[in-house]
Amino acid sequence: MDTVTIFDTTLRDGEQSPGASMNTEEKLRVAQALERLKVDVVEAGFPISSPGDFEAVKLIAQKVRGVQVTGLARTGREDIDRAWEALKGGENPRIHTFIATSPIHMQHKLRKTPDEVLELAVAAVKHACRYTSNVEFSAEDAVRSDLEFLCRVVEAVIEAGATTVNIPDTVGYAIPSEFGAMIAAVMGRVPNIHKAVVSVHCHNDLGLAVPNSLAAVQAGARQVECTINGIGERAGNTSLEEVVMALRTRSDYLPFDTRIATEHLYPTSRLVSLVTGVPVQPNKAIVGANAFAHEAGIHQDGVLKEKLTYEILTPQSVGVPTNALVLGKHSGRHAFREKVKDLGYELSEDQVELAFKAFKDLADKKKTVYDEDVDALIAEKILRLPDRFRMEYLNVSSGTVTVPTATVQMMIDGVVRQEAGFGDGPVDAAFSVIKKLTRKDPRLVNFTINSITGGTDAQAEVSVRIEEEGVLANGQAADTDIVVASAKAFVHALNKLEHRKKKAFTAHL
Ligand code: KIV
Ligand code: ZN
Repeated sequence: MDTVTIFDTTLRDGEQSPGASMNTEEKLRVAQALERLKVDVVEAGFPISSPGDFEAVKLIAQKVRGVQVTGLARTGREDIDRAWEALKGGENPRIHTFIATSPIHMQHKLRKTPDEVLELAVAAVKHACRYTSNVEFSAEDAVRSDLEFLCRVVEAVIEAGATTVNIPDTVGYAIPSEFGAMIAAVMGRVPNIHKAVVSVHCHNDLGLAVPNSLAAVQAGARQVECTINGIGERAGNTSLEEVVMALRTRSDYLPFDTRIATEHLYPTSRLVSLVTGVPVQPNKAIVGANAFAHEAGIHQDGVLKEKLTYEILTPQSVGVPTNALVLGKHSGRHAFREKVKDLGYELSEDQVELAFKAFKDLADKKKTVYDEDVDALIAEKILRLPDRFRMEYLNVSSGTVTVPTATVQMMIDGVVRQEAGFGDGPVDAAFSVIKKLTRKDPRLVNFTINSITGGTDAQAEVSVRIEEEGVLANGQAADTDIVVASAKAFVHALNKLEHRKKKAFTAHL
């Protein structure tokens, strides 16, 4: 079977998802999860776009092993030099350079002629090849490009030394049969195509990113660029878990495989959602909460008799925990450590200790601690790193006759501060005190609350989306107390907003 290279861009294109943003440490955690998942290439960022991105790419290149780490660069020398500066400490670094080739982009965005674009593309690849032979070139908006011109560019960049050529559907415009035909045409017309791996990078504006990527593989592409949970610019990118499981499940029809350790798909999906604050829709294929839930009586009956009646893949194959071992107040370190391992986390002894303490606190409040509870506490205590704002304590009073009041103590830039205030409900009171303390006044765009598990003692998981000066940020947190969960989610979003605002993109892709 032919192998398809999985190029993950969760940390670059995925981070461009509205409201998603990760600090350097969080990015490293996600990169380490991608290493466990056995992706082939991790695109860790766009080094010239911000000092934060540069640092993240550098750290990930140094720490992650067995995976090629890449960073994005436009065709300018400065971009490529900066990318190499970040990548050079890595085991197998790749420089990824790109320029748009469609008439719309060349004329309106770049204000360059096709010949000028071709020249820039070739010069960029040659410059990158001075640093490494592992160079990828992307023809941005390839789908809306003139095929003749696209083929000229592809031939020229391969001649200049590119070893991977990427054909992106930047605006998610293609239809699968059309995209497959386009890839076949590139493969057929470019004389030196055998010297490079053909890659695809699809956006999901029409909901076709995964089918388009699969059609491209059938036509000869051997690298798929994708993100965990399909997050990314606008409607997102090709979802990694969907492409991988389609190839694995339908190997009878699609005789291609990947190196992916599929049992890590679900834990990685949870991690990305918890770290970015971007929730996974319940009906999301492979990793959504309902992906393996059978609701209709006829279906339940069928599955009880024979799973194959309605299940084309098993929850175990993608790492959805089905282990009924639940934890409680009396569970010890050993059971907890086993549970953490089962859920796909690899924590150090110190981290297990920290998480165990949080687990004990939770078990004091809640009779049964489920897998989802353990996920939430690991996200909060281990995966999310302390940021500018931290809530130390919250006290609220509310009821039918009292004016809702909140007292909040926070650590802000290392200094402890405290305030009290009112609101028209306990959540409003808590949020307005947090705003006072942080001197931030974002607009609350969205607020959702879900119970993580069943039972009246369940933890509430709150997701908030806030906006300030056109910048969006998401926050997520869980607690047995819904007001505490709301306040923690709000603080998480404020930290994300700070981070997002610091990160000034020099380019909009
Ligand atoms: O969507 C796109 O075209 C991109 C390229 C930079 C690969 O993200
Ligand atoms: Zn993209």
